[in-house]
Amino acid sequence: MAIEISDSKTIRQLLSGNGPDEALFAEADRIRRAIYGDAVYLRGLIEISNYCRNNCYYCGIRAGNTNLVRYRLDKETILACCRTGYALGFRTFVLQGGEDPFFSDDAAGDERLCEIVAEIHEAYPDCAVTLSVGERSRESYQRLFDAGARRYLLRHEAASEDLYRMLHPSEMRLANRKRCLYDLKEIGYQVGAGLMVGAPGQTMEHLLEDLAFLQKLQPDMIGIGPYLRHADTPFGKSKAVCAQGLYKEQKLNLTLRLLAVLRILFPYALLPSTTALGTIDPDGRQLGLKAGANVIMPNLSPADVRDKYAIYDNKLFTGAESAQGIAALRKQIEDAGYRIAIDIGDVKGKDTK
Ligand code: 5AD
Repeated sequence: MAIEISDSKTIRQLLSGNGPDEALFAEADRIRRAIYGDAVYLRGLIEISNYCRNNCYYCGIRAGNTNLVRYRLDKETILACCRTGYALGFRTFVLQGGEDPFFSDDAAGDERLCEIVAEIHEAYPDCAVTLSVGERSRESYQRLFDAGARRYLLRHEAASEDLYRMLHPSEMRLANRKRCLYDLKEIGYQVGAGLMVGAPGQTMEHLLEDLAFLQKLQPDMIGIGPYLRHADTPFGKSKAVCAQGLYKEQKLNLTLRLLAVLRILFPYALLPSTTALGTIDPDGRQLGLKAGANVIMPNLSPADVRDKYAIYDNKLFTGAESAQGIAALRKQIEDAGYRIAIDIGDVKGKDTK
């Protein structure tokens, strides 16, 4: 039976139930299959730098974390990651990093990043280059687009001013984040927004505001995953914050329910079953696919830096999360009832008016 989501009361009910909601997941799966069939798109994630100028209270690679060994990949290493990924069937490369001053949006930083983007674009014309390197000026986004980047992931994190303030220091501004997302869209990028589920201080009302914001933005991709603690962050250190957090099962359950609601509200969307979901539960990513997700982003970063991109504790970085584990990943995806598509994986069925 089709589930109609026409009002916030229904959404609230769907999100607040305990345990899995099989009827909700089945409806999300039906919609996903109607548009995307059983295809799961792979995005090769290359974590290009864990330097970051920001100090988000939840994130392990925040500037203030002095316990972290910092690294930055050079162009040749990044291109080698793409080469490995291409041979394995990846047709999208996601260059993700902290807001590293070396790649900042001034002329020199832009030039470094543009050169990398342009070389990947030239070497793999049948692939999409996705960037996920934070807030920049519109001019910088335009230059990166001109160099060949076509997609950009920038989670909005929280659409409500009060929650955004709770998660970020005062120099960061929600208005600027939203400005970035709209600039990216206007330039012509396929845009990804998103948020953490169960972030400290997050309520049902916040999630409803997030959904309302997403409905205005109409992003191509929406990335959600459970908030996970990192010990070397203000949230990780605060007993009060840790004590008020949702239990693991609650976060898993809420993430899956929200994924299904997103699939119903945004039938066309690319929804990743995220690493954080795979970290909170060994079956998390399969459960995510069954609840409406259709993208998986395995890690293509060199093995020796994977443990350094620690945005939260115990992040998955071995097994199916590495490109070497692709056979295991294929089995997981097939066991869940889907198949890997060797395809650039553009958005389908989106009203582009
Ligand atoms: N737990 C879960 N997700 C996190 N992110 C950052 N820190 C954490 C954490 N502690 C997410 C943010 C960011 C994305 C790259 O990772 O939403 O946008």
